[in-house]
Amino acid sequence: MAMIPNEEINRIKSSANIVEVIGSYIPLTKKGNNYFGICPFHDDHNPSMSVNEEMQIFTCFTCHKSGNVFNFVADYENVSFVDAVKIVADQVGIAISDTYKSTSIYEKHYEAMDLAVKFYQNNLKSKDGHDAREYLKKRGLDDDVINEFQIGLASGNADTLSKLLLNKGYSEEILLDTGLSSIGNTIFDLFRNRITFPIHTPSGKPVGFSARIYDNSNEAKYINTKETKIFKKGEILFNYHRAQAEARRVKSLIVVEGQMDAIRVYASGIKNVVATMGTALTKNHIKLLKKLNIKIILCMDNDTAGEDATIKVGEELQASGIETYVVRLTGEKDPDEYILKNGVEAYQDALNHADTYFDFKLKYYQKNKNLNKAEDQAQYINSVLQELNKQNDPILIETTINSLSKEYNIPKTELQNKIIKVAPVKQRETVRITRRRLNQKQKYQETLLFYMMSDENYVKLYEQELSYMPDDKYMKIADDILAFYIKYNYISVSDFITFEIESPSYEDVLAIVENNADLKLIGSDFLGLLTKIKESTFEDKIASLKEKLKTISDINEKVKITSEIAELKKKVCKEWKK
Ligand code: CTP
Ligand code: MN
Repeated sequence: MAMIPNEEINRIKSSANIVEVIGSYIPLTKKGNNYFGICPFHDDHNPSMSVNEEMQIFTCFTCHKSGNVFNFVADYENVSFVDAVKIVADQVGIAISDTYKSTSIYEKHYEAMDLAVKFYQNNLKSKDGHDAREYLKKRGLDDDVINEFQIGLASGNADTLSKLLLNKGYSEEILLDTGLSSIGNTIFDLFRNRITFPIHTPSGKPVGFSARIYDNSNEAKYINTKETKIFKKGEILFNYHRAQAEARRVKSLIVVEGQMDAIRVYASGIKNVVATMGTALTKNHIKLLKKLNIKIILCMDNDTAGEDATIKVGEELQASGIETYVVRLTGEKDPDEYILKNGVEAYQDALNHADTYFDFKLKYYQKNKNLNKAEDQAQYINSVLQELNKQNDPILIETTINSLSKEYNIPKTELQNKIIKVAPVKQRETVRITRRRLNQKQKYQETLLFYMMSDENYVKLYEQELSYMPDDKYMKIADDILAFYIKYNYISVSDFITFEIESPSYEDVLAIVENNADLKLIGSDFLGLLTKIKESTFEDKIASLKEKLKTISDINEKVKITSEIAELKKKVCKEWKK
């Protein structure tokens, strides 16, 4: 949870200009009072993200993402709100006091991992590291690469790291929890006699290792940190934190299998590369990739396992609507060896000639088939038709059907009929979040709340004239707005968002901002809203009294309720005249 006090956060926010901060991530152009850019949170082609300098908020008209400067940075960089505050603080040159820095219950785990990274790095540089250094040199990794990737060495000693961490005050529990140590009779280091490659979270914290043998031993080539509280394998891709900025810039990300491949590609100057580390992609991986909103180029190993992996990953990417390309290298086993042998230009060339995933699948289905044979032909055509069923692009479907029809002399209609029969065309997942449907009364309340978040004068008017909201959920937000105003004696939308970060109403507040961000604030409109809300409340009350009337037989009671209704009706009229 946020440990940085609101005052501190707002101090940072007021030193930062949202236009400059967002402008450092995406190009913005001024149009009228606002700035516009291509929204990085959905597949945007026209600039639909608007940044309002006066209010210090952003909002996207298509995917509806909105918020203040910290919300933008948090979403863009895939970090928590608090980490986003730190990033912005860095940008504007405000030092955040160390006391606020510890924000996670796993802070000790992260610290232990950091120390382990440094410990292994030092080992590699020490006398013990001679053979490992020779090995890395032989593989063509120079000191710069070794330093950048924080490559290290777990030496042959059984428990040096465990002892060091215990001496520094880290508990056995933390050593076991992070997977750095194991326990038998005593606690011992998990990695021994291996070269260590730290693995980081998307925000760049080291949380695990992949460790490789460097001698001719018969042990498993790699062993990796097991799944731990901080190492969630399903959410982590090797090198993601280094690759993401470049990937967004060039609008593509290369996915390889091994970390050595990612290191080689990256070190050769192609920095938009991550490695799956030989595992399947999970839903969370897909989410991470989808968020980048760019195309993915799969470049797996040049063997059957690599081909299988391409299909497995490719299907997932395609199903989630990510534009997917495939590079199949020939000759060498993997991108690492390919670049060492043929140079980075040849590799770049292969990337430039990547197949679409669809074309890759066609080639795949043609393999080991004799397309002059009727049986093979039928099989192939059926596979292509099945593939077409996953496609949404009508032009692609049309041209593929045309060429199949020509090539194999089958009437087009027959092919078309077959597509319809296999399965309905899968709809591409859309990014547009369905807007919550609001009734008129809810709309009035949300707009009123937006006025109140924007300017303290509206808060005062609300207090004098209404001071309640018909719906509980809006009442809660109105109370929060008042609490903000009482505490700080002013209000602004972007500061109120920060204030609400831990409130259960946070999502509702963002939704209100999103739906109203472009509203022009006009005093008389606000008064009109107050009236509408009062009126709607009276009308609700009248309706419920009328219902009650139907069920009552006592004449005195009836008279009482009827006059109550009359009073309320008068009030409605009065509100109208105001
Ligand atoms: N892997 C693993 N355990 C193994 C073998 C492989 O976890 N016993 C993972 C590693 O992350 C490895 C990836 O799967 O990077 C791909 O395996 P492979 O292609 O065999 O390794 P390379 O990347 O080619 O590694 P190297 O070049 O160092 O041999
Ligand atoms: Mn390799």
